[in-house]
Amino acid sequence: MTEPRRIGVLISGRGTNLQSILDAVADGRLAASVAVVISNRPGAEGLARAEAAGVETLVLDHRAHRSREAYDAELVEALGARRVELVCLAGFMRILSPAFIAAFQGRILNIHPSLLPAFPGVNPPYQAWEHGVTISGATVHFVDESLDGGPIVRQEAVPVQQGDTSDSLAARILEAEHRIYPEAIGVVLKGGWRLDGRRFIPAARD
Ligand code: GRF
Repeated sequence: MTEPRRIGVLISGRGTNLQSILDAVADGRLAASVAVVISNRPGAEGLARAEAAGVETLVLDHRAHRSREAYDAELVEALGARRVELVCLAGFMRILSPAFIAAFQGRILNIHPSLLPAFPGVNPPYQAWEHGVTISGATVHFVDESLDGGPIVRQEAVPVQQGDTSDSLAARILEAEHRIYPEAIGVVLKGGWRLDGRRFIPAARD
């Protein structure tokens, strides 16, 4: 048997997307092994989720570092030491430096709670609700140096309902996130896909 592909998950907070990945690995929907979960915040709720799943955790507190470059160099080293092939950002509230992105070129995914390219940046469900769109959703995309702008791997639309608040919309978008993130990770790890410009072309079998 070949060794499962090794992913690293970076978090800052509650870690429900991390949980969806851990669950998908545990029940065999995602052929991967979570090699490490790294948080930039001590005490992030997601760390306990990783521990409960028997996954190694690491806290790299950004406040202990002189610069973004020094912090990211430590991240690269920690992920490399654990032979991580794919980095999955799951509510990691930090901008990654060009050096980090170069070190994992084409091997970083992020989950974002809007139908990109609409509403990049902070609090996308609020932005969508406040703008008055009738459809929002969730997006898994590759990370490049743009803000939430890398090639899109998977999306799921979430209609805005009469009477929604930005919180109730965010809660339904979160359910979509939990469906598409493990699926997208699986598709990327399986390989056979290619990029045509910025368009993600999955393998014929997907
Ligand atoms: C999610 O909405 C994700 O899309 C965004 O940050 C939030 C993280 O939530 N990038 P959680 O920590 O996975 O629960």
